[in-house]
Amino acid sequence: MSDIKRIGVLTAGGDCPGLNAVVRAVTKYALLKNIEVYGFKNGFDGLVRNDFVVLDNNTVSGILTRGGTILGTSNIANPFRYTLAPHGTPENPKDVSHLVLENIEKNKIDALVTIGGDGTLSMSKQFIDKGVKIVGVPKTIDNDLSATDYTFGFDSALAIATDAVDRLHSTAESHHRVMIIETMGRYAGWIALRSCIAGGGDICLLPEIPYNDDIIVDAILNRQRQGKTFSIIVVAEGAKNEKGEMAVQKTVAGSTDPIRLGGIAQKIADMIESKIKTECRVVVLGHLQRGGTPTAFDRWLSTRFGSAAVDLILKGKTGYMVALRGTEIVAVPIAEAVAHLKRVDPKGQEVRAAVSVGTSFGANLTFED
Ligand code: F6P
Repeated sequence: MSDIKRIGVLTAGGDCPGLNAVVRAVTKYALLKNIEVYGFKNGFDGLVRNDFVVLDNNTVSGILTRGGTILGTSNIANPFRYTLAPHGTPENPKDVSHLVLENIEKNKIDALVTIGGDGTLSMSKQFIDKGVKIVGVPKTIDNDLSATDYTFGFDSALAIATDAVDRLHSTAESHHRVMIIETMGRYAGWIALRSCIAGGGDICLLPEIPYNDDIIVDAILNRQRQGKTFSIIVVAEGAKNEKGEMAVQKTVAGSTDPIRLGGIAQKIADMIESKIKTECRVVVLGHLQRGGTPTAFDRWLSTRFGSAAVDLILKGKTGYMVALRGTEIVAVPIAEAVAHLKRVDPKGQEVRAAVSVGTSFGANLTFED
């Protein structure tokens, strides 16, 4: 029998659909095993400030389908470089990790489930090195963690982006315009690539494939020559041109994610309108991609992840992240899980399939036979 009596759970980093589904699964399963669950508020900040709520079956009832997180989240509360009052400022971050350790001790938390992306998992790794028992659950709409086939949240974001591509076709077609849809995804192009394939986009611009302005314009002109008077461009927020230039909206001091991307779609629109007489319109999907109810896939994955995280704790197997490989849930050492970003392979079959149905990546791509 396990000697675990009480666990903590927190959600950190950007929110996404499926966080509540994981919190629910962790809580329900732990309670079933007579383990108490403390939900720490706003990511690691709850552990710095000792701000928590005791979770029971009532608190997690009805949240499976709800977006966001009932625990709140933060992507600025890093206990190792804490920038918030009363301890630190963005200019003068403080290491307050000792407060986290003290609160874990004070509340008799035997193990923690940390739900987050690469930033959260990296912080988790630092606490594991200090002796905290942690199991990580991979979240992010970006799907950029190499250790898991899928992070939860991605499928919901993809569904929203694909729906946008579908809907924008009618205006593009009616007005003979180029519609440019900017997706999130940071330095990985998964949302853009898959929504472009699923929505039948004509041009797809990704961080992994540097684009050339003239090739983009040629692709539009080629379509016009074939009588297709509109084009749909799906561009990832982190897309780069051949000089390696990205569109940075602003830099945010003290954030765990200091570069805020945004504005690439407008940049592409301005470039096209400066070269050819074709009207462009821009739609930036932004945080819409992180809102609303999780898809069936994300609810399924979140529930399996939450349950598997508790199983690992019961087995005493902490220091791991749960991951999906094929259809199996496996445990991956957290250190390994945060070592590499998963990015689109420009020579891979997904890109090849898109090219085979006529999608341009704004680049001259060649594939081996
Ligand atoms: O990592 C998830 C993500 O939504 C990225 O796709 C995006 O670049 C970033 O977070 C936006 O962060 P924020 O909500 O802080 O603007």
